Amino acid sequence: MAVHTVLKMGDPRLLQVSQAVEDFDTPELHQLIDDMRQTMAAYDGAGLAAPQIGILKRVVIFGVEENPRYPDVEPVPQTVLINPQIEVLADTQQGMWEGCLSVPGMRGYVERPDHVRYSGYDQFGQFFQREATGFHAIVLQHECDHLDGILYPQRITDMRQFGFEAELVAQNADEEDSEGAS
Ligand code: NI
Repeated sequence: MAVHTVLKMGDPRLLQVSQAVEDFDTPELHQLIDDMRQTMAAYDGAGLAAPQIGILKRVVIFGVEENPRYPDVEPVPQTVLINPQIEVLADTQQGMWEGCLSVPGMRGYVERPDHVRYSGYDQFGQFFQREATGFHAIVLQHECDHLDGILYPQRITDMRQFGFEAELVAQNADEEDSEGAS
């Protein structure tokens, strides 16, 4: 069990298409999931894809606990998802300022389908299927993009809506201040 270094944008491994998992319930796969969980926790992430630690397999994990400090983020079930398939269920999109452990310190505004059905396998080879909306749908799609070598900056349609998190937070605070003052 080990916390791995998360690869950063610029590392060519993050641009590769990952391979499907063929053998389930193996020591190697359980080790990979353990390592990913520890790494995600150490980096305080909402999700992690195997290629982010240099393993080019179609494995993602994600999950967000209910947290009173962040009341506007809905809880997302702790999930291990292998060889995922995603089906878009609605034409409507939702936008969010996304971040990524592989693009540290930055945020970008990305729009994605807001209602999807996804399916895949857990680490024991058990098939499952779920529907997702809201933040759950965003995290899922963001993580699965990693399996196809796509990082969220490639999904930003207006590059003016991309920047350093600290600056964006400061700008927001300024706007709220001025609104409050007017
Ligand atoms: Ni990411």
